[in-house]
Amino acid sequence: MNYRHAFHAGNFADCMKHALLVWLLRALARKPAAFRVLDTHAGIGRYDLEADQAQRTGEWREGIRKLQGVTEGPLADYVALANEEAGSYPGSPAIAARLMREQDRLALVELHEEDHATLRALFRRDDRVAVHRRDAFEALRALTPFPENRGLILMDPPFEQPGEYERLAAGIVEVSRRQRRLVQAAWYPIKGRAPVRAFHTALAESGVKDVLAAELHLRDPTDAARLNGCGLVVVNPPYGFEEAARAILAELADLLATGEPGGGWTLTRIADE
Ligand SMILES: C[S@@+](CC[C@H](N)C(=O)[O-])C[C@H]1O[C@@H](n2cnc3c(N)ncnc32)[C@H](O)[C@@H]1O
Repeated sequence: MNYRHAFHAGNFADCMKHALLVWLLRALARKPAAFRVLDTHAGIGRYDLEADQAQRTGEWREGIRKLQGVTEGPLADYVALANEEAGSYPGSPAIAARLMREQDRLALVELHEEDHATLRALFRRDDRVAVHRRDAFEALRALTPFPENRGLILMDPPFEQPGEYERLAAGIVEVSRRQRRLVQAAWYPIKGRAPVRAFHTALAESGVKDVLAAELHLRDPTDAARLNGCGLVVVNPPYGFEEAARAILAELADLLATGEPGGGWTLTRIADE
């Protein structure tokens, strides 16, 4: 396991994933009934942007740094949350914990020994949060169905091993079988076109219903050695998601544009309701 998210926190991919995540969590919190969040690849929870790792790559300067002055429009809620602690950036666990209520629960899964220890320390005083050190896809089976029968699963693998798109598609199908009504959000990189097309086709043919793919493109994916964009598959999007996602993606594409050919965004329906 070589991937450490501390080098990438706050980059354009985090901005896209987290802006949509904030919207999804707000939608769940609209109803008073308790919900649960399972974050299968949690990372360390919160990231110091002044630390050596973040400074070395400087990826956040092309991401959250470019959004920090946003106070209005579709990104305002996410940016306000990201700006709450100066010099640090909230990962998905910190975002979920921030938007949950007293009655909601958060299960965090992180396999990396050191990152798991950091994550556990961050949430040691929050009784709503359970931190697990186990494999993400094994956790999907162990920790579902949710007793609340409502909630969200975020799958955010590092894509450092071959077969990650296939495992992600299999995980989505597995969750749909075990508890069909959960919202699922699964992040994926866009390096070349072919693996993304195969991933979408696998989902379209899987029988899972109500699936959208939101994508942010920095450039045409001609050089598959680069991260040219990223996507988030959303299963069972809450009411209003399509309209909100379009506005969020358009604003991100505008503010994070590199000026290269092929930049932009898409929202594609992969499976009908
Ligand atoms: C992209 S990062 C997660 C970032 C986090 N979701 C966020 O948005 O702040 C992926 C994480 O998955 C962890 N990881 C990799 N393989 C895993 C596995 N099989 N099971 C659980 N965690 C894993 C890595 O150690 C890394 O911290």
